[in-house]
Amino acid sequence: MKIMELLPEIQFIESENLRRKVLDTWRRAVLLGGWEEKDLETIPFTLLIKNTPINLFMHTRAVTLCALGVYSSYEKVYGKMNLLRKDILLAGALLHDVGKLLEYKKEKGKVVKSQRGKLLRHPVSGAAIAWEMGLPDEVSHIIAAHSKEGDHLRRTPEAFVVYYCDFANFEPFREE
Ligand SMILES: [Fe+2]
Repeated sequence: MKIMELLPEIQFIESENLRRKVLDTWRRAVLLGGWEEKDLETIPFTLLIKNTPINLFMHTRAVTLCALGVYSSYEKVYGKMNLLRKDILLAGALLHDVGKLLEYKKEKGKVVKSQRGKLLRHPVSGAAIAWEMGLPDEVSHIIAAHSKEGDHLRRTPEAFVVYYCDFANFEPFREE
């Protein structure tokens, strides 16, 4: 499966174990969501913006690169401060929307909301798959808290960064 091609930033995760788990989580979600490899690039990053040319994998890459940019700017300006754990941040950014593979489904050639997605939004289903695949709770937390579901949680520093990078890759793209 071409997940590594679609998300080359997975390579930036230093821990081999974590890298493998991130990849396996995406693969598991593709399977659970019933997606075929050829459909992956046709999945929009949101159903709230009609006919967006940005697919789910492009969005995930941009959010990950944004998070990495925040990490790098902290390091450059503030010096080594260990506020953000780089691998946790990368894994969380790369997986924040993995649950969309369950929230959406393909029906008559169109990507629509699934029945499961109406009951469990992607922050919930994504955290559940990450948990199932043995990712650290810090990563499931980033997934669970990256949207409004996290408003009642005390977000970790990594979760805050992914939350804002996600919004930076959504709000400016909204139509009038
Ligand atoms: Fe999301």
